[in-house]
Amino acid sequence: MMQRSISERLMLAFYVMLGSIIALLISSLPYATAEETSEWHSIEFIGVEKLPETPEAIQAGKALYRKKCVWCHGISGKGDGPIAFQMGAPGNPRPRDLTKGMYKFRSTPSGKLPTDEDLFLTITRGLSGTSMPAWRGLTETQRWQLVYYTKTLSGKFLIEPPAVPIEIGREIPLTYESRKQGREFYIKFQCWQCHGTSGRGDGPAAVDQKDEWNNPNPPTNLMNPEEYKGGRSPRDIYRTLATGLGGASMPAFYPALSDEQLWHLANYVASLAERGNR
Ligand code: HEC
Ligand code: HEC
Repeated sequence: MMQRSISERLMLAFYVMLGSIIALLISSLPYATAEETSEWHSIEFIGVEKLPETPEAIQAGKALYRKKCVWCHGISGKGDGPIAFQMGAPGNPRPRDLTKGMYKFRSTPSGKLPTDEDLFLTITRGLSGTSMPAWRGLTETQRWQLVYYTKTLSGKFLIEPPAVPIEIGREIPLTYESRKQGREFYIKFQCWQCHGTSGRGDGPAAVDQKDEWNNPNPPTNLMNPEEYKGGRSPRDIYRTLATGLGGASMPAFYPALSDEQLWHLANYVASLAERGNR
């Protein structure tokens, strides 16, 4: 057997140590790796550090809210700002009433409050196809401040414990087979009732759909990539399907459907958006 020299052994020990130090560093970084955040938020959170929720942060958020958000969401958050009346037609929803604590875009189960990260994501990305702007122009610190102030507008955040995101299994690759399965589930689980057999949002149950606040709220045209408010990667769509959209007729399919069924459906829907994109 070959004998290792002392210097070789030392080198080996050195590399092992270096490796563990690097691993330790990586694991202690907040939102450091895509793997860690892959739950829902993936790229938007890489390198983002969470601001602590302090009274000062909430105060700063309040000042920002009064400058940027009141126009639509109103002083008290009821969704009755001075320009809110311009919205409310089908396909142009009214600003959310933030006093109710009911949210469409969550990583948490149906009926639960969103996480801070969910709110951060909505504020960062905005809601495509609606008047809710993306606020990437604000610093991350400012966006966290807005998250914390937004939470004070509804008493629910005080009384309900913070909700835990739904766990999502390993991604099933977007293959022809997976899309085909997804298409079958799309028919089987009645998505077509609202979204139509072709996905254009023209199913038999689509007529006159209203949201919780009695505003027109038609099903999304899944062929139109611009209409996806919560993102249109398979992972985003998985989230939409699993959690449903609070206040809209879009149901939550977790835990009724299995992880695998949800992935196939998400892959099929993502391919519809992709086709519409061409
Ligand atoms: C020009 C109008 C407008 C402005 C300005 C605006 N919003 Fe919105 N916002 C909307 C609309 C419209 C919706 C609802 C979209 C929907 O129902 O699909 C919404 C929804 C939301 C939601 C709810 C998302 C969910 O999951 O249901 C949050 C949170 C929010 N806005 C925060 C903010 C914050 C914070 C600001 C200021 C930085 C802001 N908005 C500024 C129009 C606006
Ligand atoms: C009872 C009617 C109904 C059924 C059934 C239904 N949806 Fe929806 N869905 C809606 C409505 C309404 C919206 C728009 C909600 C909004 O933007 O406020 C929507 C939105 C969506 C969106 C877009 C979310 C976004 O990010 O903007 C996707 C994707 C979607 N549905 C997929 C599905 C799939 C897949 C199924 C079947 C497993 C399904 N839906 C079943 C009513 C329905």
